[in-house]
Amino acid sequence: MVGTMAASKPIEPEAGSGLPRWQLALLIGTPIVLGVGAAYLWGRNRNGSQAGSRGKDQPSERNEERKTPEGSEQDNMSLLDKAQLAKNRGNKFFKVGKFEHAIRFYTEAIILCPKEQKSDLSTFHQNRAAAFDQLGKWIEVVEDCTKAVEMNPRYVKALFRRARALEKLDNRKECLEDVTAVCILEAFQNQQSMQLADRVLKQMGQEKAKEKYKNREPLMPSPQFIKSYFSSFTDDIISQPLQKGEKKDEDKDKEGEAAEVTESSGYLKAKQYMEEENYDKIISECTKEIESNGRHTAEALLLRATFYLLIGNATAAQPDLDQVINMQDANVKLRANALIKRGSMYMQQQQPKLSSEDFDMAATIDPRNSDVYHHRGQLKILLDKVREAVEDFDECILLRPDSALAQAQKCFALYRQAYTGNNASQVQSAMNGFEDVIRRFPTCAEGYALYAQALTDQQQFGKADEMYDKCIELEPDNATTYVHKGLLQLQWKQDLDTGLELISKAIEIDNKCDFAYETMGTIEVQRGNLDKAIDMFNKAINLAKSEMEMAHLYSLCDAAYAQTEVAKKYGLKPPTL
Ligand SMILES: *[C@@H]1O[C@H](CO)[C@@H](O)[C@H](O)[C@H]1NC(C)=O
Ligand SMILES: *[C@@H]1O[C@H](CO)[C@@H](O)[C@H](O)[C@H]1NC(C)=O
Ligand SMILES: *[C@@H]1O[C@H](CO)[C@@H](O)[C@H](O)[C@H]1NC(C)=O
Repeated sequence: MVGTMAASKPIEPEAGSGLPRWQLALLIGTPIVLGVGAAYLWGRNRNGSQAGSRGKDQPSERNEERKTPEGSEQDNMSLLDKAQLAKNRGNKFFKVGKFEHAIRFYTEAIILCPKEQKSDLSTFHQNRAAAFDQLGKWIEVVEDCTKAVEMNPRYVKALFRRARALEKLDNRKECLEDVTAVCILEAFQNQQSMQLADRVLKQMGQEKAKEKYKNREPLMPSPQFIKSYFSSFTDDIISQPLQKGEKKDEDKDKEGEAAEVTESSGYLKAKQYMEEENYDKIISECTKEIESNGRHTAEALLLRATFYLLIGNATAAQPDLDQVINMQDANVKLRANALIKRGSMYMQQQQPKLSSEDFDMAATIDPRNSDVYHHRGQLKILLDKVREAVEDFDECILLRPDSALAQAQKCFALYRQAYTGNNASQVQSAMNGFEDVIRRFPTCAEGYALYAQALTDQQQFGKADEMYDKCIELEPDNATTYVHKGLLQLQWKQDLDTGLELISKAIEIDNKCDFAYETMGTIEVQRGNLDKAIDMFNKAINLAKSEMEMAHLYSLCDAAYAQTEVAKKYGLKPPTL
């Protein structure tokens, strides 16, 4: 499944900007939408704030050292001066790695310092936290940083130190809040804090998804999704609709058997439900065929596994697929198809090695099966092996010259290769390739959709928009296209209203379109409507088709949630549209 949808997702912003998706959700004025402008505005706000700069772990601040009077006038020194002196001693010990001693002097500084000297006091606490940090005393680090931040809420150094200590203490939620504040204060310019945010979001997302995915209700995708999934297989048996004649042939085949049994239960019944789009009944009909050890057991196992995959239950699908793959005397097309599906499942579980093995085995047992190459090509794209992907698409085209999908995906692979290789002439020839594909296959919606993505990438927005209109004309029921077109309006004209209208339309067409909810959530984050965003992300989470996708959505949701907390606590917000 991962394979079929892979190429239809938009070109990941990661490819161009090096930013993970959650960051784009946080960062308004994503480099794409507003670019430098927002960063500039935000930078100006920040200069006016008292944001402490962050350097190495060295807590000393030279100019303060110079301010401190030394020696002679000790008696006339104010308490603050004495505190500074103690701090400077602490710094000296810190520099030579005597952290226990440093802590003693920082403590003295804290005790001496008049309570109204908040800025100094917060520095002393931050310095002591740095020393505790060196000793791995995380609880003390958190306590001191908390004091420092209470007195100076925009103290980046203290916030970041606390974030790291909280991570060590496995308090991811609060860690995320601190690091979010840091990222906002630094206008997302510091790699170190961005990496921490990324790491914590991923861990939280994975943990939550693991729990939630296990306990979720099975969910049948929309009929559009199911049809599109099956249409990505052309060389297998179970995907083919029963032709009118074929049904009769089946009955003729079984002259001796009781025809009414065939009619009322089992695999053929399941196939009939499939044609009627009555998908909820398919698994149980297949089970009847399997339990009665009917003549279509292998087909029934494969079809049941396919629906287990579609409802997102890989645990249930795997034994069925294993069984079909091991049936040496079953039709080789069934076994190859089972291998493709198990391979895609492994890919979804982030096991690329097992996945590749299955695809390779499928190519060995059924070397003339075009589906194997088509799906393996998509896998290679996910693995960033573009050259191998192109070879697979070529093989598929050779076996099935009318495969418009493979041609379009090949163009897309070539485009990505050219784009990442920064080769303008190759980019141009990939674009020409797309023109060729849509001329030769004018009814293949995917061709227009992929071309539109490449065009958007090349900032040829007007033409991209025309291509999406073609898709909509060909497949008015495909919600995904409306989302892509909506995103295009944002990028092209910064037209939020039209963008949101199109995405709402997508949800109207298919209220199980997780991509639409995710996108809408991202836009709401950018508009500063965090509650609405969280609501959208939660809807998408409930529809996620794999644990990995769910983990990613949790990251987006947690990032938005952390922002609401940061806004409440510190009054900090990234700029909004
Ligand atoms: C919708 O269109 C996209 C191309 O934009 C295609 O990849 C996908 O398979 C289609 N989905 C459905 C459910 O028809
Ligand atoms: C997946 O299938 C297994 C085995 O059939 C079952 O025990 C489990 O409850 C199912 N999980 C979900 C989420 O439906
Ligand atoms: C771009 O690709 C073309 C054709 O593959 C090749 O001949 C040329 O050397 C490449 N140019 C650069 C700058 O890599």
